[in-house]
Amino acid sequence: MKSLLFESYGTSSVLKIVEENIPSPAKNEVLVKVKAAGINPLDWKIRNGDLKIMTGNKFPKYSGCEFAGIVEKLGTDINENLIGKRVFGFIPNTMKQGTMREFICVPRSSIAIIPNSRSFEEAAGIVIACTAAYQAISELAQAKAGQSILINGCSGGIGLFALQIAKNMQLKVTGTASGEGILVAKEFGCPNVIDYRKTDLLANNEKFDIILELSGRMPFAQAKKIMQDKSVFINPSPDLGSIIFSIFNNLISGKKIKLLMTKYSQEKLILLTELMNKNLKIKINKIYPFSDTIKAYQETEAKSPIGKNIIKFD
Ligand SMILES: NC(=O)c1ccc[n+]([C@@H]2O[C@H](COP(=O)([O-])OP(=O)(O)OC[C@H]3O[C@@H](n4cnc5c(N)ncnc54)[C@H](OP(=O)(O)O)[C@@H]3O)[C@@H](O)[C@H]2O)c1
Repeated sequence: MKSLLFESYGTSSVLKIVEENIPSPAKNEVLVKVKAAGINPLDWKIRNGDLKIMTGNKFPKYSGCEFAGIVEKLGTDINENLIGKRVFGFIPNTMKQGTMREFICVPRSSIAIIPNSRSFEEAAGIVIACTAAYQAISELAQAKAGQSILINGCSGGIGLFALQIAKNMQLKVTGTASGEGILVAKEFGCPNVIDYRKTDLLANNEKFDIILELSGRMPFAQAKKIMQDKSVFINPSPDLGSIIFSIFNNLISGKKIKLLMTKYSQEKLILLTELMNKNLKIKINKIYPFSDTIKAYQETEAKSPIGKNIIKFD
């Protein structure tokens, strides 16, 4: 089978597609023939070595955290009738295996059945971004109906899910986007979309109860100017410095910093299944064949997709 890996940290030029043996499932695992996998910023943050302190120097490493596919084989401890089922899920350790490969072995607890109405591409594109959006708004910010939220970067992977979740929780939603992203964010129900290229939000008087900062371009030091006295700033890309700073800040300020470290679980996959069974919209920006995965990373890293970029396997 074919698999994407890298043997040193670096740009997408270190990626290569190699031939490997199809793995065998351990007792509690299933073997899945991958049909689609989603691209996420975490993939290239790991590959670039941005998280080296946690990811270490053992190579090869693999890419991709989310997938959808068909169950081909069961570990000996699994007694369910899963063979041939369409499933989606996450991989517990992306560096050891990744989802950018034709077959993966994952624990039973990392998969759920895809609703009949949804494609492999849609199911593969929901896992990381929608779980992160839900966890940020519902669990970290503990948002309540009537509160105001700024989703800074509302047309990307997390953003389009975040604005649907926030609207559903009856928050007052403002989003920022640019170009075609503005139109899509409006189509996805965002009542107030600001073009960040034309309007400096920090110069406005409007203050928010919650800021979900997805752009990587509005640090807390700036954002606090447009936060209510008691409010929450969600940082989805915590590093050591921001972890330490948040501890001190949260002791003395009503403007709290919450660090997003999304936890993926079967419980969350069931939640995603429920959302897919309702009317959650999933925006696929572009689908690339697996043979074009390196190009897909180059393009996604150069320009945030509107929604999700997906790799499709035969
Ligand atoms: N901690 C966790 O558990 C976790 C989980 C998942 C993701 N993340 C992180 O969350 C972040 C967002 O992820 P994502 O998948 O949503 O990324 P994404 O798809 O690349 O979206 C980023 C968004 O930011 C927008 N943007 C760019 N420059 C901007 C600016 N100056 N002002 C306002 N918006 C701007 C982009 O819009 P344009 O189209 O205009 O460029 C795009 O909509 C990433 O850093 C990712 O690593 C963290």
